Amino acid sequence: MKKFIPGIALLFLTASNISFAADTAKGEVVFTSNCAGCHAGGKNFMSPHKSLSKEDLEKNQVNTTAAIINQVTNGKSPMPGFGKLGILSATDIENVAAYVLKKSAAGW
Ligand code: HEC
Repeated sequence: MKKFIPGIALLFLTASNISFAADTAKGEVVFTSNCAGCHAGGKNFMSPHKSLSKEDLEKNQVNTTAAIINQVTNGKSPMPGFGKLGILSATDIENVAAYVLKKSAAGW
C-alpha cells in the first residue's frame, strides 16, 4: 500500500517530519479516543495506583517523554501496545505523550 503513495504526499510527509514538534492539541484528541476509557481525568480505572498523576508517573518512572512513548508503543499488560498493534502512529504517540506530561504537570 505504502508503495503507491504519490510523490507529492511523500514530500509532504517528509517535510512534516522534519518540522515536527509535539502537538498537545492533537495529543488531546488521541487521548480522548484511545486512552480516556481507562485513564479519563488522568486516573487509571484498572490499576488505580498507576494513574497519570505527576506523583504516580514519578514513582513508577514513567515521567519522561521517552518512557511514555515506550509504554504506549509497546504496552504493559493489560494496557495494549498502541504502536505495536498499529493503532497509533509514532507521531500520534509523541503527541499524546506530550499531552499526558502537560496535564500531569498541571494536575489534570
Ligand atoms: C484498556 C485500558 C487502558 C487503555 C485503553 C490505556 N491504558 Fe494506560 N494503563 C493501563 C493500565 C492497566 C496501566 C498500568 C500498567 C502496569 O501494570 O504498569 C496503564 C499505565 C499507563 C501509564 C503509566 C502510569 C503509571 O503511573 O505507571 C501511562 C503513561 C499510560 N498508561 C498512558 C496511556 C495512554 C497515553 C493511553 C492511550 C494511548 C493509554 N494509556 C491507554 C490501562 C490502559
